[in-house]
Amino acid sequence: MLFKKNKNFINRKNVIVVDKENNDVITESFNRLKDNILFFNADNKIKVIQISSSTACEGKTTVISNLAVTLASNGLKVLLVEGDLRSPRVHRPFNLDNENGIYDYMIQNKKIEEIVKHTSYNVDVITRGDKISNPSAVISSLKFRNLINTAKETYDYVLIDCPPVLDISDYIHISALTDGALFCVAYGQTKKHQVKEAINLLKQAQINILGTVYTMVDTKENGYYTSGHYSNYYLKNKE
Ligand SMILES: Nc1ncnc2c1ncn2[C@@H]1O[C@H](COP(=O)(O)OP(=O)(O)OP(=O)(O)O)[C@@H](O)[C@H]1O
Ligand SMILES: [Mg+2]
Repeated sequence: MLFKKNKNFINRKNVIVVDKENNDVITESFNRLKDNILFFNADNKIKVIQISSSTACEGKTTVISNLAVTLASNGLKVLLVEGDLRSPRVHRPFNLDNENGIYDYMIQNKKIEEIVKHTSYNVDVITRGDKISNPSAVISSLKFRNLINTAKETYDYVLIDCPPVLDISDYIHISALTDGALFCVAYGQTKKHQVKEAINLLKQAQINILGTVYTMVDTKENGYYTSGHYSNYYLKNKE
């Protein structure tokens, strides 16, 4: 993913960087990711996608939020769901508050339509809401499964932001709800053995890994070719 790695950008926490009016290199790389997903998913079997990475701060929330905006710009109905109930972040790129979310659905018995937040990007978002004392129990509950299954009927894509695989084992429960995972790797930051370990854990949990997204790529060092990695992966999988 061709984001320019510089201090200013890193300091800007979880932002929407795609801009359909301005076809810059970042917007272009998200468009390519979106096109790969749509191509790979020509028969519409993939509706629920999770984003994972080995360790924290590899760009998951940023990638899934910008992917959501890119899919929505293409006329698709997209719901982004907070799947990291310990460190919720999906409200940030959309400047939403974190009130009234999964907590209220689970504990206060609010209906899904009462907790969905609409954004100016045409992306709907479900945030966590109040602190949840037993995140794994919530993620693995029938009620949470019902939330995702109901959302599948209304939306073209349901995207779930996840905690890092090597830190939190919730990916096991989330994978039971999703049709596939995108795997983020922070270029030049994540160690090979961490990537291997996380991929092995995801495979053991029988998660369908759709492709890898490289983040934190220094465009000056690497030129503009890097997104080919995940395009190739998608094409290979489709065969
Ligand atoms: N491709 C990128 N290039 C450079 N910086 C990035 C990139 N993606 C995200 N960042 C920056 O890196 C930081 C971490 O990003 P983000 O919160 O998306 O990661 P995360 O994997 O979701 O983290 P966590 O595991 O804590 O949820 C943020 O400050 C963000 O602005
Ligand atoms: Mg995150």
